[in-house]
Amino acid sequence: MLNRFSRREFAKLFGSAALAPSIVPALSAERALAQNATIAPPAPQPFPKGFLWGSATASYQVEGAVKADGRGVSIWDTFSHTPGKTSNGDTGDVADDHYHLYKEDIQLMKAMGLQTYRFSVAWPRIFPNGTGTPNPKGIDFYSRLVDELLANNIQPYCTLFHWDLPQALEDKYGGWQSRETSKAFADYAGYVAQHLSDRVQHFMTLNEMRSFVDIGYRDGRHAPGLKLPPAKVNQVRHNAVLAHGLGVQAIRAHAKSGIKVGLAENAEACSPIIETPEHIEAARKAMREENAGYLTAVLESKYTDAYLAHHGANAPKFTDADMKAIGSPIDFVGLNNYTTTWVRADNNSRGYVVVPAPESYPHMMSSWLRVGPQGLYWAPKFIAEIWGVKEIYITENGASSTDVLTPDGHVYDSDRIMYLRNYLTQLHRGVSEGVPVKGYFCWSFMDNFEWADGYAYRFGLHYVDFKTQKRTPKMSAHFYKEVIARNGLA
Ligand code: FCB
Repeated sequence: MLNRFSRREFAKLFGSAALAPSIVPALSAERALAQNATIAPPAPQPFPKGFLWGSATASYQVEGAVKADGRGVSIWDTFSHTPGKTSNGDTGDVADDHYHLYKEDIQLMKAMGLQTYRFSVAWPRIFPNGTGTPNPKGIDFYSRLVDELLANNIQPYCTLFHWDLPQALEDKYGGWQSRETSKAFADYAGYVAQHLSDRVQHFMTLNEMRSFVDIGYRDGRHAPGLKLPPAKVNQVRHNAVLAHGLGVQAIRAHAKSGIKVGLAENAEACSPIIETPEHIEAARKAMREENAGYLTAVLESKYTDAYLAHHGANAPKFTDADMKAIGSPIDFVGLNNYTTTWVRADNNSRGYVVVPAPESYPHMMSSWLRVGPQGLYWAPKFIAEIWGVKEIYITENGASSTDVLTPDGHVYDSDRIMYLRNYLTQLHRGVSEGVPVKGYFCWSFMDNFEWADGYAYRFGLHYVDFKTQKRTPKMSAHFYKEVIARNGLA
């Protein structure tokens, strides 16, 4: 083109900016080099002072040592050992061997500057049969883990149930099909709180009720692998929220004073498809109704009329006392967020429609993990606005990636960094407006057993060689370390 136009003519046609890219940066870079100057990074956009930066894992996904020190069997042991249930027949038998390597792992956390670590307690380590006599070696492990975290200046956030239900309760009661399991959970939660609350200040009852109820008892793709009819699934869901409520009460009854209790729920994160008043209002309505069986019930102490009408004869059976327990006041909401539910306004009776994802919608390695950073802005905002929640944590957020370890020993997970940066940008937008998010936990600290997807789907900030247990910080770990150091985007 330059053969046919002079530079001046070219600029006249395409604007003077057309000249800029090839020449201006080259000159200024040259000048900078000549003057031995450094190019400063953009001014930081800080998160509020005291914002907590952490990372999360879950017992069955990282601990391994499934037979150590009197641990009982969980439904995930049974499920993963059943042929055809997990990818490649993978199990959590060894996982990251975190049970034995926790001290080394905590040193890696420290090296990243993590301020807090969210772990879960394996119920079958504490009560190998679900109820009855506790196994002292079980609580000992978590006690040592907590001590080690505190010694390294990392605040422990403790989840009581991250899906590894004692098999004994599945055998005896059909697991969450019975409210006996909800009561057993409360006893177990109270016991753990009693033993750890001198050092742990934040407890979460259940992790992602939506996942273990719907995927485990309705779709059969997770443990215990059941495909129950709607009425039974709705009762399982009720028993889960009931367990949460009874758990909150038991934790408060047995813990030292001053602790905080919440849950870690993957609420549908409803975002307006376009940020206009009508679509925003539609997304707000959707946030309440799409979570009616879970977070809405917990925060309103009731099921919405639309939820009960929708399920009709299949609606759960419950008492007033149940609903009161379910609505036991909590101190914070933990939100696990990976994707968003796009919503648009509509004239139907609900006032909204969930927009189906087109086939071309981008996702991370896991096909369910559709990229939707705006969920991290809208969901906490709605949770604060609709229910007046004053303290929110992002208890999980992260991405799966193909994560190739190069011969030079690095994992250049630029896709995960892109994902995290976009989500954190939206989170920053929220906290800058005063949305009360107090901390963020990246899922996950290291690659681990990704449930039915086995070890093929890596979510870690650290790459794990599952043959040698060697951990390697990925590029995203360096990125996150910088975020933490700046308390802002990097
Ligand atoms: C969440 C789970 C967590 C992990 C991530 C990827 O749903 O809580 O254990 O599997 O997804």
